[in-house]
Amino acid sequence: MYYSEDLVEEVRSRNDIVDVISGYVKLQRKGAYYFGLCPFHNEKSPSFSVSPSKQIYHCFGCGAGGDVFTFLREYENFTFQEAMQSLADRAGIVLPVQEESARDRQEKDLRGRILEVNKMAAKYFYYQLRTENGKAAMKYLQDRQLSEETIRSFGLGFANKYSNDLYRYLKDKGISDELLAQSGLMNVDEKQGMYDKFWNRVIFPIMDVNNRVIGFGGRVMGDGKPKYLNSPETKVFEKSRNLYGLNVAKRSRSRYYLVCEGYMDVISLHQAGFTNAVASLGTALTSQHAGLLRRYTEEVVLTYDSDDAGIKAALRAIPLLKEAGINTRVLSMQPYKDPDEFIKALGAEEFQKRIDAAQNSFLFETDLLQKNYNMADPTEKTAFHEALAKKLMTFEQELERENYIEAAARRYHISFENLRKLVNRMAMQGMNSRTVTRRREETAPTGSGTAKPKKEGGIVRSQKLMLTWLIEYPKLYQSVKPYLHSDDFTTELLQKVAEQLFSQYEESGSCNPAKIISSFEELEDQKEAAALFHATLETSTKAELEKAVRETLMRLVAHGLEQRSAKLDPTDMAGLQKLIQDKKRISQIGQIRLEV
Ligand code: UTP
Ligand code: MN
Repeated sequence: MYYSEDLVEEVRSRNDIVDVISGYVKLQRKGAYYFGLCPFHNEKSPSFSVSPSKQIYHCFGCGAGGDVFTFLREYENFTFQEAMQSLADRAGIVLPVQEESARDRQEKDLRGRILEVNKMAAKYFYYQLRTENGKAAMKYLQDRQLSEETIRSFGLGFANKYSNDLYRYLKDKGISDELLAQSGLMNVDEKQGMYDKFWNRVIFPIMDVNNRVIGFGGRVMGDGKPKYLNSPETKVFEKSRNLYGLNVAKRSRSRYYLVCEGYMDVISLHQAGFTNAVASLGTALTSQHAGLLRRYTEEVVLTYDSDDAGIKAALRAIPLLKEAGINTRVLSMQPYKDPDEFIKALGAEEFQKRIDAAQNSFLFETDLLQKNYNMADPTEKTAFHEALAKKLMTFEQELERENYIEAAARRYHISFENLRKLVNRMAMQGMNSRTVTRRREETAPTGSGTAKPKKEGGIVRSQKLMLTWLIEYPKLYQSVKPYLHSDDFTTELLQKVAEQLFSQYEESGSCNPAKIISSFEELEDQKEAAALFHATLETSTKAELEKAVRETLMRLVAHGLEQRSAKLDPTDMAGLQKLIQDKKRISQIGQIRLEV
């Protein structure tokens, strides 16, 4: 069911965001904003702010943000439709009802339809587990000591022995082959046509943070191969952006999260009371995973398997987590293999002790590093100390670096002074020959080829700043308009925001940030847009502000020009002419009047 833009606007305008959020969070007015304790992460001092004038919220701590619809989607796990209904009810607005016809169903976007198919399949599997056919599967789960409650809360199910069961069931429900193919639930081959991907397996539905079933994992009951089959990536299932168990873990409001390897680890940890456990399924942790985690926590305890693969996975994950601003510790499961085994053997209390004793990730890395050297040999020992010093140089802040030098000195029996001297000497040498960034790459802890997540370029930061100013100071638009075009923004999100912002100013002379936020379907995008609208600007004098705006504008226009001239066909005389004119105009920016 789709609602017209006008109707969405009406519902939004009749539900003041401060009133709505006040129902969940105690807010206090401070200047132009209201502040409170963020409901999306654990904090002691308020960094969650709500702007009554812009009708949006943003948390400076965890980055959550959006409009009144986003808030309900995040807090209540509502779909957009549900949020719409709830806010309409609240304001006494009656939403039009429509019978859902077969055609409406067809028209719903593909993602929605795949999610619906997934939900049907999940229910089907869930039901199968509880039938006569599912007995062996149920016994398998019980033998693995999963309680009735755990089986229910993770929605576990069973795909039975017939390889076209689910296919027939979904066909009876009127689902087209085309949609089934898109759902990832089916295999297709020339001989057999379309048939179930999962059969004779225990099923683990995979949910996103909003409790929507986005994919499945299926385990053989015994030693068959492959142990797990997983849904392929589909329009709704992106492995690098979802974490198994996060839908439950996010409610734990825990200070730290446990990150482990697989389905069974998460499930047995939750059953033992560690409801803050999540897993990246069958893929290594990505920088997107790290970014997602950072929304909920500042600290991760890695609980990867204690085999070589688990250690490698930890070494890959540590720098990604660090880059995302997460402090990481590494838990030792020895002598057990994984959390499931550990808890079965020693219980939850012992596991908690291991969490408390989990090792700082830097020392975890350097301990492993040390294993490559024969410490009884003075040459090798020196080489280790040099490698250690090299790694210590990666701490850019002096206090932090000193603290790590102190910890490492103690741990590896070197005098603090000697180690510090070594670090400083290497830093000096490094400065002379190469740049700081190159040095950091060279000392990256693993030899593995993990790609560094891209740092936001300076130009993108300037673009964001310009948008924030344009929202904050509506008068600015008229002065900037002749020079700046939405094409000058280089990311898709920023371009979309700029387009809408410019057309709002053209149409009404004012902007409606909440409306721009709603135009993004993904909560992640909404959050990013909200951060843009909610950035706190270092308030300086008017003159300083003007200067900053002017310089940023020049930079953006020049960058846009550069991009265009790089693409320009040298025989395109008209294009060349225009470019030259535009270049002239940049110099004009130095003289224009800027109204702020
Ligand atoms: P594990 O082999 O450690 O499985 O793989 P597990 O989760 O501990 O499960 P049990 O206890 O043996 O039943 C860790 C994760 O790697 C992915 C799955 O997500 C699994 O949970 N995996 C593993 C696959 O996708 N396919 C496989 O064949 C094996
Ligand atoms: Mn395992």
